[in-house]
Amino acid sequence: MIYLDHHATTPCDPRVVEAMLPYLTQHFGNPHSDSHEAGREVRRAIEQSIDSMAAILNAPRENLVVTSGATESINLAMRGVLMHPRCKRHQVVVCDTEHPAVLEVAEDLSKQSIAGGQPIEIVRAGVHPHDHRFAGQVDLDQLRAAIGEHTALVSIMWANNEIGSIMPIKTIAEITHEAGALLHCDATQAVGRLPVDMRSADVDLLSASAHKFYGPKSTGLLVVGNGNRRVRLRPQIIGGGQQRGLRGGTLNPATIVAMATAMRIAIDDLDGDTSRILELRESLWDRLSSAIEGLQLNGIDWREETSLRLPGNLNVRLRDIEGESWMAATPDVAFSSGSACSSTEALPSHVLLAMGLSESEARRSVRFGIGRFNTTAEINSAADQLIASHQKLVG
Ligand SMILES: Cc1ncc(COP(=O)(O)O)c(C=O)c1O
Repeated sequence: MIYLDHHATTPCDPRVVEAMLPYLTQHFGNPHSDSHEAGREVRRAIEQSIDSMAAILNAPRENLVVTSGATESINLAMRGVLMHPRCKRHQVVVCDTEHPAVLEVAEDLSKQSIAGGQPIEIVRAGVHPHDHRFAGQVDLDQLRAAIGEHTALVSIMWANNEIGSIMPIKTIAEITHEAGALLHCDATQAVGRLPVDMRSADVDLLSASAHKFYGPKSTGLLVVGNGNRRVRLRPQIIGGGQQRGLRGGTLNPATIVAMATAMRIAIDDLDGDTSRILELRESLWDRLSSAIEGLQLNGIDWREETSLRLPGNLNVRLRDIEGESWMAATPDVAFSSGSACSSTEALPSHVLLAMGLSESEARRSVRFGIGRFNTTAEINSAADQLIASHQKLVG
């Protein structure tokens, strides 16, 4: 199996596994047990991990909250702000191409009210269409129109998981703060793949997930505040008082050490990984587009806009067959027809529809995500298999 689905998840880096294993066997104390060294040594390892991640993200270390992954972080950020007893504003602004983890929380919030009694209102901003130079980036005019004096929170992703478009986060932060609102950024696809600096981007809340950067699954982070303005959250999981009462429950030292190690490796290896992955994407696209007639690129053309698309992302549209058929005919290459969540429901991608593609065009689209351990030989073999299976399907 050649794995080309690194937006869905990544394998744990062996260096990460090595770092975490002692915390499952040797150093197994409860980090919240202060009365003995078994607890204290584990606590220190967690604190070092938090320090390291805070330094990488340029965020105050006391503002990091460990969660079970980005979905939980997003729930805590969005529900936490709106459900806080002192939240006076009742609007949330999201972009059409957000991950379901954001869109479904927004949908659920729209059935609730803030503490003052006003029903919560969700306002959506669209993205630039598929034939635009900045295809898939949030339309800043629409965003400006959506944000107003009643906006409590704006939630926009750093980078899109389907088409890889990187959002103009600094500008989004400026627009958000001018209106006195807070910015939550789902940085699940960005952390570990791009430099993410919370203070310089001026993001107020940031969600991330270890399994997207070669760490373990069900481990994530929410950063609550970058030090520039006050962020008040109502906790969503209580009991035990851990993490300053923001998220109860015993911390897992093994996965926290793993997440910090994975983030450190990703940053240390960023330049090397990025240039290798860029070459592999170029080669996959060249091979596929020269052999498959009518193949189109979905999203920003990285040859025109070099820094606006995630390096490993390739999303393409076939002329004659559906992505599902191509995947079924190429069983030894792992790629996907949309986000992992919507692909189980076999719905056309909401991201591609938001960019103005038709249902049929969206169904004829697939996503590749190239990662750290892919090799040139794998890309060549995957391209051969994809071209052969396409040829067989079109006859
Ligand atoms: C952009 C984005 N946000 C959120 C999530 C959810 O992350 P997790 O699996 O850590 O809950 C994902 C995972 O697919 C994602 O790609």
